[in-house]
Amino acid sequence: MMKVGGTWKRLVWVVVIGVVVGVALATPTTEEEQHESLEETQELESEHDRDGKLFVLLAQIAASECTTNDPIRTQGTCMPSKQCSNQGGKSQGTCAKGLGTCCLATRTCNAASSYNNTYFINPDSTDVELGACTLTINRVNSNICQMRFDFISLDLSQPDINGACNHDFFTVTGGVSKVPMICGRNNGQHIYYDVDPNGGTVKLTIDRFDISSLSRSWDIKVTQIACDSRFRAPEGCLQYYTATTGTVNSFNFLNTNTNTDVNGTRQLANEDYGVCIKRADNYCGIIWEASKVGGNFGFTVSGPADAIQLSLIGTINTSTRDGNCTTDYVVIPGGLYTLDDATNTVQAADRYCGLGFPPSVTTTAQPFVLYVKSNGNELMEAINRGFSLNYRQIKTCM
Ligand SMILES: *[C@@H]1O[C@H](CO)[C@@H](O)[C@H](O)[C@H]1NC(C)=O
Ligand SMILES: *[C@@H]1O[C@H](CO)[C@@H](O)[C@H](O)[C@H]1NC(C)=O
Ligand SMILES: *[C@@H]1O[C@H](CO)[C@@H](O)[C@H](O)[C@H]1NC(C)=O
Ligand SMILES: *[C@@H]1O[C@H](CO)[C@@H](O)[C@H](O)[C@H]1NC(C)=O
Repeated sequence: MMKVGGTWKRLVWVVVIGVVVGVALATPTTEEEQHESLEETQELESEHDRDGKLFVLLAQIAASECTTNDPIRTQGTCMPSKQCSNQGGKSQGTCAKGLGTCCLATRTCNAASSYNNTYFINPDSTDVELGACTLTINRVNSNICQMRFDFISLDLSQPDINGACNHDFFTVTGGVSKVPMICGRNNGQHIYYDVDPNGGTVKLTIDRFDISSLSRSWDIKVTQIACDSRFRAPEGCLQYYTATTGTVNSFNFLNTNTNTDVNGTRQLANEDYGVCIKRADNYCGIIWEASKVGGNFGFTVSGPADAIQLSLIGTINTSTRDGNCTTDYVVIPGGLYTLDDATNTVQAADRYCGLGFPPSVTTTAQPFVLYVKSNGNELMEAINRGFSLNYRQIKTCM
């Protein structure tokens, strides 16, 4: 055996004459590579007739990630191009110095994938089938503890008047953590899903019910996360944000400035989950504020917004706290809220609900987490939008 191009990091081409027996693995050399590369390797055999001899070229690529040339679906797996097409993938650029193809693993209804960074997409517009559309995910190795689903887009029909996802909905099964039913429009949202590393397959299902909403579409990226990965979300976090600033939206959130021309609640019923924020080094607290992007309905989670004077929506005067929050609310453990922008006086409350949010809520309680809770009936919240909360980690704490 002869190694060609020994400096290539994740790709080893082994040229052998005659019949190939046995497997020479492209062993990652550093810990980082070991961590990133998949245990599964892929092979391609091709024949070259050189000097009248039969050469069998065996390429073994320890499947590594690569960046595709697709502007939206950016993550692919480096592999021989033949293998990519054999498995229904799409070649999107080259990798491994041109020897491999950056294979985009896209799958639609009733397909399976064994690749990290698989994109689950809706069938093309000519497909008008209803019912379940399922993607089966096989773990890339036996050290997978979590999966992350990125809703590049997830545009399904809206919940019914109770906020229940009774028409179209997204569900996931096969793992250990609980994921609420999700419907409506959730572009840009993500969720984490804990799986048993020794468990079976994970199934993502889009259930299509509404004939009327044939414009439904989705593009969900599935990332597999190793048990010892630093990207793994802590337990109990359906969502996990790692930046020092950001915006957390409830599922299906859409801001507005009106309490009349709206089509039912955007808030989903039966939600009960945690949104975790990774505390950055040297930061000690976090400040939450309602987003004003797109309107004043950045925090409309409980009570009938159509029964309230429009100018009060989004203000402290329509914000309710603690014991008065029993149906739909968010929890900010250790929260201290301000009454208005002018004074520095703060009061303590963990639970926030109503049709407005205080100017700001600060907490130093760690870990940084926001709990989201809604009951099974959004009838009283007929035109609520849910919430869009901006957060900012701070370095100066009292
Ligand atoms: C899957 O891909 C992501 C990048 O999208 C990477 O961070 C992660 O480590 C990969 N998972 C495994 C098990 O290699
Ligand atoms: C309500 O639904 C109708 C019909 O689908 C749509 O044209 C209108 O824009 C919607 N209004 C709002 C505020 O979403
Ligand atoms: C809230 O109510 C108080 C007392 O009624 C009033 O003075 C204040 O202007 C109101 N604030 C807002 C933002 O509407
Ligand atoms: C709950 O509502 C009542 C009546 O509106 C009010 O008097 C009380 O201060 C509220 N409590 C909290 C914690 O907001």
